[in-house]
Amino acid sequence: MKVLVLGAGKMTEAILTGLKKTENLASWVIYSPSGISAQKLAGRVGARAINDLKLMESPDWILIGCKPQQLPVLSASLNGQFKESLFVSMLAAVSEADQIKMLGIKELIRIMPNMPVEFNEGVTLLASDSSKVRLPSFQALFAKLGTSLVVTESELEELTLLTGSGPAFIYEFAKNLSASFESLGDEDREKLVRQVIKGAAKNLSASSDSLDELTTKVTSKGGVTIAVLNYWRESDLSQKLKSAIEAGKKRAVEIKVTLRS
Ligand SMILES: NC(=O)c1ccc[n+]([C@@H]2O[C@H](COP(=O)([O-])OP(=O)(O)OC[C@H]3O[C@@H](n4cnc5c(N)ncnc54)[C@H](OP(=O)(O)O)[C@@H]3O)[C@@H](O)[C@H]2O)c1
Repeated sequence: MKVLVLGAGKMTEAILTGLKKTENLASWVIYSPSGISAQKLAGRVGARAINDLKLMESPDWILIGCKPQQLPVLSASLNGQFKESLFVSMLAAVSEADQIKMLGIKELIRIMPNMPVEFNEGVTLLASDSSKVRLPSFQALFAKLGTSLVVTESELEELTLLTGSGPAFIYEFAKNLSASFESLGDEDREKLVRQVIKGAAKNLSASSDSLDELTTKVTSKGGVTIAVLNYWRESDLSQKLKSAIEAGKKRAVEIKVTLRS
C-alpha cells in the first residue's frame, strides 16, 4: 500500500515508530518542506523521503502531520494534487468540513492520536462523515498502536484534552508529587515517581477493579494515604481539575476562531 505522509514531526514519528513494529513501511513516502525532518524520519522507519510533491504518484491514502497553522501553505503546495485521495488528518482544532474545503478534497478522516502510540500503548480517536465506509479499516490500523475508537467529531474535539493532552497532565502531576518530598536528590526521587506511575498503570490495565476499588486497596481507615486524599477532597481538587479542563476547552475554541479568520 502506497501512503504519502505530509510532515515528519513528533507525532508522525511516534505513529510511524509504533507501526514499524508490525508493518513494512518501505512503500510509505514522507514529505516535509525542508526535507530534513522527512529524511531523518524516513531513515529511522525504513520509508522514503521527498521534498517535491510533484515526484509523488497517486497514493492509496495521505496522512497529514503538520500543524494546523501550516495547513494553508500545505494546501498551496498540493494545489489540487491528490484531490481524489483519502486524507487522514491528525490536525487539532480544524473541523473535517474546513479541512476538506481548504484542501479542495472529497474524503477526510480526522484522527486524534497521543504520544504513547510510539510504544503501542496509545489512544487514537477517529471521526469522519465524508468517509464513513473506510473508518473500520483505519480503526484496525490504529488498533496496532493501542486503543482505537471511532467517535463523533464533537466527541473527538472534547476528548482531545483527555487523550491527546492527557500524558502531559500525568507528567506535570508526577513532577509536583515528586517535588512534595525532601529525601534523596531530585533525580532519584523522579526515578521513584516514574516507577510508581508505571506500577500503577500496570495495576490499572491488569485489574478489573474500579478506580474507587483500586484506591480503597491502597488506603486504610485513619491511615496516611486517606489523610492526603481527604485533604484533596476537602480542598475540592476535582472542581479545580474541571476548571482547568474548561480553560483548555476555551482555548480550543479561541484557536479554532483564529484559524478560521
Ligand atoms: N504532539 C502531540 O502530542 C499531538 C497529539 C495529537 C495531535 N497532534 C497533532 O499533530 C500535528 C503535528 O504536531 P507535532 O507536535 O508533531 O508538530 P511538529 O513536531 O512541529 O511537526 C510538524 C511537521 O510538519 C512539517 N510541516 C511544516 N509545514 C508543512 C507543510 N506546509 N507541509 C507539510 N509538512 C509541513 C514540519 O516539517 P519541517 O521540519 O520541514 O518544518 C514538521 O515535520 C498537529 O496538527 C497536532 O495538532 C499532536
